[in-house]
Amino acid sequence: MIKLIATLCLLALLGLTNADIQANKLFNLLKSKRARNSPVTNTWTVSEEVTDEYSPVHTAPQDGLADLDKISVLPGQPEGVNFSQYSGYVTVDPNAGRALFYYLVESPTDSSTKPLVLWLNGGPGCSSMIGAMSELGPFRINSDGKTLFMNDYAWSNVANMLFLESPAGVGFSYSNTTSDYDKSGDKNTADDAYIFLVNWLARFPQYKTREFYITGESYAGHYVPQLAYTIVRNNKKTNQTIINIKGIAIGNAVMDDETHFKGKFDHWWSHAIISDTTHDAIIKNCDFANVSSAMCENSTDKAWNEIGDIDVYNVYAPICLTPRERNTSAIPGSVNFFDPCWQYILEFYLNDSSVQKALHAKPTSWDLCSDVIMGWNDSAVTILPLIKYLIANGQRIWVFSGDVDVQVPTTSSRYSINALKLPIETAWRPWYLNKEVGGYLEAYKGLLLITVRGAGHTVPSYQPQRALALFTSFLGGTLPPSS
Ligand SMILES: *[C@@H]1O[C@H](CO)[C@@H](O)[C@H](O)[C@H]1NC(C)=O
Ligand SMILES: *[C@@H]1O[C@H](CO)[C@@H](O)[C@H](O)[C@H]1NC(C)=O
Ligand SMILES: *[C@@H]1O[C@H](CO)[C@@H](O)[C@H](O)[C@H]1NC(C)=O
Ligand SMILES: *[C@@H]1O[C@H](CO)[C@@H](O)[C@H](O)[C@H]1NC(C)=O
Ligand SMILES: *[C@@H]1O[C@H](CO)[C@@H](O)[C@H](O)[C@H]1NC(C)=O
Ligand SMILES: *[C@@H]1O[C@H](CO)[C@@H](O)[C@H](O)[C@H]1NC(C)=O
Ligand SMILES: *[C@@H]1O[C@H](CO)[C@@H](O)[C@H](O)[C@H]1NC(C)=O
Ligand SMILES: *[C@@H]1O[C@H](CO)[C@@H](O)[C@H](O)[C@H]1NC(C)=O
Repeated sequence: MIKLIATLCLLALLGLTNADIQANKLFNLLKSKRARNSPVTNTWTVSEEVTDEYSPVHTAPQDGLADLDKISVLPGQPEGVNFSQYSGYVTVDPNAGRALFYYLVESPTDSSTKPLVLWLNGGPGCSSMIGAMSELGPFRINSDGKTLFMNDYAWSNVANMLFLESPAGVGFSYSNTTSDYDKSGDKNTADDAYIFLVNWLARFPQYKTREFYITGESYAGHYVPQLAYTIVRNNKKTNQTIINIKGIAIGNAVMDDETHFKGKFDHWWSHAIISDTTHDAIIKNCDFANVSSAMCENSTDKAWNEIGDIDVYNVYAPICLTPRERNTSAIPGSVNFFDPCWQYILEFYLNDSSVQKALHAKPTSWDLCSDVIMGWNDSAVTILPLIKYLIANGQRIWVFSGDVDVQVPTTSSRYSINALKLPIETAWRPWYLNKEVGGYLEAYKGLLLITVRGAGHTVPSYQPQRALALFTSFLGGTLPPSS
């Protein structure tokens, strides 16, 4: 809590609010789940058998809408843009007036044969435009908050990338029935994303049978497997829209509350940011599987306090200090320098009315994370049963992890995967890019764990070249090179 307050003070300095940090949203949710009046949990009973009927989802005619969604040019866009971009809304519930906003970036080369990949950010309640504009999209924003430069390592080099702001209430996505926001939770998020996809594929029929993958980070460790599960099950039940899903890749992903919590403090201790005493006290006082005790809270609060004011996304990154510093000291226009003030810059850009107009978004006070979604109705304690289901159904599953993240560290991912008890197929080894170790991998039967050396929570922000190499290998279904 103390750390959270410290972070909030820093954000207040920048004019950002507490809703603005993906990591804080996550921290608050996980904390509330360990309190007594927690959100509904365990809502995903996985069954191999498909006994229930397909319940048809809302569909509406989409003819001609893709053309209207085509972006002619984004404000501040550099010269030489040789790919197509689209954005707009897909209605998921006409009665409530609920619509989700998407941004599609097609590949500059052979777009018609490259796969379609959905990207989701986490939170819960944070925008996937974070991924689009400060992680893996074709552009990054200069520190002036107004102009863009090319990201040489955009994932759209190798796939058609679809970014979805989800659920309604996040970013430009909205509902005319504001009580919908109080119903936000894992289940509704997956259901709406599924309806979105069915209608989106009708709007862009050239993608209807295309190979499809879902990727995401952080709390999307819930969204991605849950949506994949929804699709795989519905594919078995209906002959209407078969979505050609082939796999998922999730980064620094929350997969299981117990192993997540345990892994966090072990990572902090081994990265020399908390004391032996506090680490020992946490091990002694916390039962990670259960409702938090006062003793445990006391120890974890102490840990947050010991960490001090570092970037909660990356142990070793500089932090954003003052707005003035932000606007004068940043090295402009290099994808290899990740501006620590990126959150401020992103809000500045996407809140601009000319940018919103170019994106076909309705006028919105755009935030990184929703300030209308105040609670979260349901959150599974673990998504490991869904992972097992997806493995059993032949989906490719990669779990990637930036190894210097404070929030959902590599140890958490390792403990979560260990809990699956999968046989090892390729023993732990380094993988290489340009003669340097890009990270390490271990292939299990049905699932690959792969780390990215020197990357924080938002992997492509901190290590764009390594992230693209990893993503390219994922799509190809091959392990990155061992030398
Ligand atoms: C597209 O533009 C980028 C950046 O200007 C350039 O590197 C790439 O070669 C171009 N690709 C094609 C297919 O023209
Ligand atoms: C929400 O309401 C506005 C104003 O009435 C309307 O223009 C818009 O189409 C509605 N959105 C949806 C998704 O129905
Ligand atoms: C940075 O400073 C310039 C010049 O003072 C100003 O025009 C611009 O709006 C500032 N950018 C941000 C993101 O505040
Ligand atoms: C909250 O989640 C539970 C479990 O999925 C569901 O039964 C309930 O209808 C949800 N409540 C709201 C308000 O959406
Ligand atoms: C789907 O199945 C139903 C019932 O078997 C059948 O009537 C319908 O023609 C099928 N539709 C397609 C597109 O194959
Ligand atoms: C703690 O968790 C374990 C394992 O999930 C369970 O058996 C035990 O009853 C729980 N204890 C309390 C106090 O909730
Ligand atoms: C934890 O407990 C100790 C001793 O009971 C107390 O002195 C300390 O202030 C507590 N720390 C926090 C962060 O609550
Ligand atoms: C976005 O712009 C609106 C006015 O256009 C302003 O009221 C709001 O505070 C801005 N939001 C942020 C986060 O800067």
